[in-house]
Amino acid sequence: MSNLLPHERILVALDYDNADDAVRLSHLLAGKIGGVKVGLELVNSAGFDIFSRLADAGAARIFYDAKFHDIPNTVAGAVKAAAKRGVWMVNVHAGGGSAMLKAATDAAHSGDHVPLLIGVTILTSLDEAALHTDLRVPGTVADQVTHLAALCQSAGLDGVVASPLELAAIRRTCGPDFVTVIPGIRPAGVATHDQARVATPGATILAGASYLVIGRAITGASDPAAAADAISQEIRSVL
Ligand code: C5P
Repeated sequence: MSNLLPHERILVALDYDNADDAVRLSHLLAGKIGGVKVGLELVNSAGFDIFSRLADAGAARIFYDAKFHDIPNTVAGAVKAAAKRGVWMVNVHAGGGSAMLKAATDAAHSGDHVPLLIGVTILTSLDEAALHTDLRVPGTVADQVTHLAALCQSAGLDGVVASPLELAAIRRTCGPDFVTVIPGIRPAGVATHDQARVATPGATILAGASYLVIGRAITGASDPAAAADAISQEIRSVL
């Protein structure tokens, strides 16, 4: 990841319920960030044309936060279809198991355009009590996240989404080249909103993050382009 420029580490979460806001912000941030994250709210509001509209607005890389989780054959078909749309990165739930993860990897590698394939380990909305009681998974969240990251790596995925808290353990287990995509980022002095576990851009890059997923710290700023530039500067200062 060391060959990435500071601004290329920033992926902006386009958490909008309409295409126009997403396209306007992509246009404004073109060349100032590494890519945009399109989640289920935006796709279900704006339709799949959103991918080509964002590309036309200057979004060089699109991370489709699809979080596919189904039987291997179905997930493989969905990953293949997403790849055909030209997305740069797409994700699946690691909890689908190794057969599903391997099918997703094969599908991602089967076409002309090969997206980065990323696993979602344990949703950060689940704490240790939920892990034990709801999912009946023993141990700590960090143990389970690290286990699932290793499972993703051995199934051929390029990386995982994780919280800043698990980043160091994933780096130790999966090595320096495994892609880590980290949400929950707040520059010093910016409101944390509903995020409980946040870290600054600089600290997260220092801890080994490949990419930072940043939503409201940029989308909610009075000057989103200036906010993106300030975060790039902070990343540059720790590299
Ligand atoms: O506005 P904020 O920076 O908190 O947005 C973070 C983005 O990252 C949102 O799109 C959110 O859904 C996503 N995300 C997260 N925590 C996770 C996984 C994804 O906040 N564990």
